[in-house]
Amino acid sequence: MDSLQTGHLGPRKKRSRQTDAARASIPQEVKFQDLVLFILEKKMGSTRRAFLMELARRKGFRVENELSDSVTHIVAENNSGSDVLEWLQVQKLKDSAQLELLDVSWLIECMRAGRPVAATGKHQLVMREDYSANPSPGSQAIPAVHKISQYACQRRTTLNNHNHIFTDAFEILAENYEFKENEGCYVTYMRAASVLKSLPFTIVSMKDTEGIPCLEDKVKSIMEEIIEEGESSEVKAVLSDERYQCFKLFTSVFGVGLKTSEKWFRMGFRSLSKIRLDKSLKFTQMQKAGFRYYEDIVSCVTRAEAEAVDVLVNEAVRAFLPDAFITMTGGFRRGKKMGHDVDFLITSPELTEEDEQQLLHKVINLWEKKGLLLYHDLVESTFEKLKQPSRKVDALDHFQKCFLIFKLYHERVGGDRCRQPEGKDWKAIRVDLVMCPYECHAFALLGWTGSRQFERDLRRYASHERKMILDNHALYDKTKRVFLQAENEEEIFAHLGLDYIEPWERNA
Ligand code: CTP
Ligand code: MN
Ligand code: MN
Repeated sequence: MDSLQTGHLGPRKKRSRQTDAARASIPQEVKFQDLVLFILEKKMGSTRRAFLMELARRKGFRVENELSDSVTHIVAENNSGSDVLEWLQVQKLKDSAQLELLDVSWLIECMRAGRPVAATGKHQLVMREDYSANPSPGSQAIPAVHKISQYACQRRTTLNNHNHIFTDAFEILAENYEFKENEGCYVTYMRAASVLKSLPFTIVSMKDTEGIPCLEDKVKSIMEEIIEEGESSEVKAVLSDERYQCFKLFTSVFGVGLKTSEKWFRMGFRSLSKIRLDKSLKFTQMQKAGFRYYEDIVSCVTRAEAEAVDVLVNEAVRAFLPDAFITMTGGFRRGKKMGHDVDFLITSPELTEEDEQQLLHKVINLWEKKGLLLYHDLVESTFEKLKQPSRKVDALDHFQKCFLIFKLYHERVGGDRCRQPEGKDWKAIRVDLVMCPYECHAFALLGWTGSRQFERDLRRYASHERKMILDNHALYDKTKRVFLQAENEEEIFAHLGLDYIEPWERNA
């Protein structure tokens, strides 16, 4: 490995061209299909490049001779990020936005490990944030080297989170501040968690946090402690705090929010069983259902269950509105494997006002007759089409909607699953149905896809950076004083001057 480390040129013994050619033509088995490497010759030299290419191929990596659109990782030596970007500018690539530009030190670590290792900040030649709000004309293929955006809607956040140890900690702290109704601190920790979720690498030292926005000093000091001690004393304290534990428990009941939790905590309750049995407490219908189906609801919804519900929603809605557009929104649209509920958005290009008002009622009646509804709460629309969008980043929308608990029979769920011992052959599933007029469907879809943090930042970006107001119904341009129409989500991003972010990249 000496030759690797020192940069000394490859094989010591000279081999004949004949042997080299013969060796190179032996097809090597590709073990790591997800990576396609290209090693840059510039400033590395052809001999060392050939050596590294051969070594990497022998270790099971796919290494291309030429740069092409299939390449995922470019490895360079003695080049700065801007050197590589400059070189990349003149290569005719369709899309270089997803390319990783890495230093040879990454490849060397991979060779040592015999497999791809995670690229961390120290390997990255360019800290990239590929989604400039204002790509200059003609430059869209080549990302500018600039910092990570403070807005989640300018970052791509998949479910592949490399920084769980930090984001889990921040989410606990944020939740605790939410329970204390401390909005400022809640936002600080949610933003910090969100930006770390978007990073393509794991933070291993504080040096890696350079240039990352949304990390306030108190956030950084917690990160430092986690790096050094493996845990945060503040998080530990929150987890063992009685008030936090009780709020977490009480709010896990459907229909119980902060106010009720506060009341029960003040009254001295510490467990759900005592609350359930207390004769003096009055519960809403929602809370009664929340207690009755508690175990099923806290166990979360799997994708197979969500798909079974999808089939049932489609059947029921299409019985009344054959050309309906029905989209599963929320976390499942973002690719999550589990959710606390299943969300659906319903509309139709042929929707009359009467359909719009009646459809959910008809669906609910149908299910009720079949005995499939364990609970429902239908909220009528309060939507006024000409009103300006809401300025609040967390505003709820005015569409007609139904929050319900569905009785999902196991037999409807694909894949084998074990029967429950007591013979209960169904599971209670939380479902949200939203009905919207066709003109707003793109806005409603964007709003109901989430994540909450992504939505908040979209609205914040719209108002702070574009002087526009966005909500689940419309986009209003305050400068031009017009509503901007959109047929689909792509058009909304375009109105905002944002690169399109796919649903599975919105897990901020
Ligand atoms: N939403 C909304 N108005 C509401 C409720 C929710 O606009 N009254 C949006 C939120 O932005 C959220 C999305 O709809 O991102 C889905 O809400 P929810 O089901 O609460 O969250 P999910 O992201 O689906 O998470 P989970 O998987 O836990 O259900
Ligand atoms: Mn959901
Ligand atoms: Mn929901």
